[in-house]
Amino acid sequence: MKNKRSSEWFQAPGYHGMARRAWLRSEGFPADVFDGKPVVGICNSWSELTNCNVHLRDVAVAVKRGVIAAGGVPLEFPTISLGEMFMQPTTMMYRNLMAMDVEESIRANPLDAVVLLCGCDKTTPAQLMGAASANLPAIMVPGGPMLAGTFRGQRLGSGTDGRKLFDLYRTGRLSDEEWNEVEGCIARSSGHCTVMGTASTMTSLAEALGMTLPGCANIPAPDSRRMAIAELSGRAAVELIEAELTPRRIMTREAFENAITVLMALGGSTNAVIHLTAIAGRLGIRLAAGDFDRISRRTPCLANVKPSGEHLMEDLFHAGGVPAVMNRITDLLHTDCITVNGRTVCENVSNSDTRDGAVIRPRDNPLFAEGGIAILHGNLAPDGAVIKQTAASPALMQHRGRAYVFETRDEMIAWIDRDDLPVDASTVLVMRNCGPKGGPGMPEWGHIPMPRKLLQQGVTDTVRISDARMSGTSFGTVVLHVAPESAAGGPLAAVQTGDEIILDVAARGLDINVAEEEIARRLRAFTPPAPHYDRGYGRLFLDHVTQANLGCDFDFLASNSNK
Ligand code: FES
Repeated sequence: MKNKRSSEWFQAPGYHGMARRAWLRSEGFPADVFDGKPVVGICNSWSELTNCNVHLRDVAVAVKRGVIAAGGVPLEFPTISLGEMFMQPTTMMYRNLMAMDVEESIRANPLDAVVLLCGCDKTTPAQLMGAASANLPAIMVPGGPMLAGTFRGQRLGSGTDGRKLFDLYRTGRLSDEEWNEVEGCIARSSGHCTVMGTASTMTSLAEALGMTLPGCANIPAPDSRRMAIAELSGRAAVELIEAELTPRRIMTREAFENAITVLMALGGSTNAVIHLTAIAGRLGIRLAAGDFDRISRRTPCLANVKPSGEHLMEDLFHAGGVPAVMNRITDLLHTDCITVNGRTVCENVSNSDTRDGAVIRPRDNPLFAEGGIAILHGNLAPDGAVIKQTAASPALMQHRGRAYVFETRDEMIAWIDRDDLPVDASTVLVMRNCGPKGGPGMPEWGHIPMPRKLLQQGVTDTVRISDARMSGTSFGTVVLHVAPESAAGGPLAAVQTGDEIILDVAARGLDINVAEEEIARRLRAFTPPAPHYDRGYGRLFLDHVTQANLGCDFDFLASNSNK
């Protein structure tokens, strides 16, 4: 065995080596724990403020069993955690902070490898960003999705069905009693949201990148197989050290192209465009809008899972999970990419059969012919915007309509249920000041609720545009991530109520039918909103966050070596 990194701490000559051994022995370790055994950190995003990750202390116990069985020493440590349901103004404000915490905790401590325990939306990209920058051998173990809920015989998928039921409630079609009942049964167990939201997407993409054991991402949180694969991951972490298999060797450009391909085949969350760009940026790999769109056009959407389809994550797991999806599209993947078990993608997925063709559709009968996400450009979004076309209304994919502009989210909330809101079914709702600097933190406000007066007329969808993000569990003809954002003086700041907006998803266009000179004139009169913070982490965030097309990482955290 080679000399371990941890030996620099524990086998150092003189006082410091003795002191480090002594202080760690205060935790009850015997002396022979320091005889050169590999030390594996378990980076835990457990928190009672992150309900999706609340079972990760138990998962860590299983990981420890595996590390010990393989001859290593496991040491569990916490970082900040990001609970999607609670953090204000948005967890996205803190993704980069958690990534810095993960990176520096790994780098500063006597570790030879690390096991990353994640689940809720931002915890997965934050850990991958930090581990990519630290570049010690790393393996990820997501906590898995929660169990499906059931409401009066109807299976419920977390945010997706919650939002649909809320529309019934706010229009008087669901009683208080029924609404209270929904609250008790929509989130049934530990684990992350049980549709193809951002958490399910990002954990599945961690697997597609090669950073988890095959089959790991989709096992439901309470399933005993979650613990079994956690133990196997602990063993694999020790083997990674000897093989010197680091994130930089696994997360190559080809691996990111695999992840984008799987994103499209899963109908995954639009948030993944931002997170994959940020993770790749840590490794000097520049993912451009064109990479996502090129891959989307050639990749069929096969996973029939909400919000794009009908089923839930539990069903996807039983149908074969990520390996079965990948096996359906091997001709679109770089199958020679190496993964954390030392095997290639081809070796991992070639025997993974689909067990339910209604959930993982065959290639000749896909859910959609193209991938879930389309990247739009035009004079309204010079640096791009995204739409989840598989969760949008086909009738609105080519649309011209007059804009109705909300200056802020607060203004939208004050007006959206008013009967005198001057909108009809063709109106394009525009909301600004929701981007990385304007939100701040680019909150998931992009799913502007349908105006109540339109719902009452039976209109269930209309085109909505903003510089915000949207929960991966949401749906509708919603254009997001408009870049540059309005608060940074992007053209979104120039739109006025009554302007004609032209959306053409097939042509990937997003334009405002206003002369370029007039747009320029309006933007010359633009005054940026007052910054939200003048000190602390908020100030650091506002000073250094990049735009959506660059991943919203801090400018000083991306790698300088571009590939
Ligand atoms: Fe954590 Fe949905 S709230 S994944």
